[in-house]
Amino acid sequence: MDIALKVNGHTHHLAVDPRVVLLDALREHLGLTGTKKGCDQGQCGACTVLIDGKRVLSCFVLAAVADGEITTIEGLASEGEPLHPMQEAFVECDAFQCGYCTPGQILSAIACVGEGHADSEDEVREYMSGNLCRCAAYPNIVKAVLQAKPQMEQA
Ligand code: FES
Ligand code: FES
Repeated sequence: MDIALKVNGHTHHLAVDPRVVLLDALREHLGLTGTKKGCDQGQCGACTVLIDGKRVLSCFVLAAVADGEITTIEGLASEGEPLHPMQEAFVECDAFQCGYCTPGQILSAIACVGEGHADSEDEVREYMSGNLCRCAAYPNIVKAVLQAKPQMEQA
C-alpha cells in the first residue's frame, strides 16, 4: 500500500506491505538506521521515536497508521549544528558505553522532560524504566536527563 510518513520535517511517500512496522519502514525504506532494533517485541525501548512529541515504540506501530510528525535521532540536530541539549548532556555525562540503546534513551528522555516527569532521580528512573541498557549506564543516564532538563526548559 502507498503511505506517507512525515519524518524529521520531510514527507516521504512509500509503497509498503501493510504489515510493515514503523521501525522497519524507518530503517529499511528510509535508511534511518539511528533507530535501533533490540527486542522487536516492545520490551527494550531501543526503537523509541517521537510522534508529535510523544514517545512511541516504533516496533509496535504499523507504518500505515503512524500519523503525525515523527522525530528520530537523526532529526535532533543536523550536521554542523549544535547538538540538542539532551544529546550534549549524554556526551558530557558519559551516559553510554556501546551506544546501542542511546538513540532510544535520548528520545525517551526528551519526552520524559516534556511530560514533566524529570523532577528527581527517582522520578527519572521510574519514567525511563522502559528503556533498557545492557551496559547498565543507568546512573549517568539519570544524571544526563537531570542536567538537560533546565536547558530544555529555557530553550
Ligand atoms: Fe522495540 Fe525493543 S525493539 S521495544
Ligand atoms: Fe550499551 Fe546502553 S550503552 S546498551
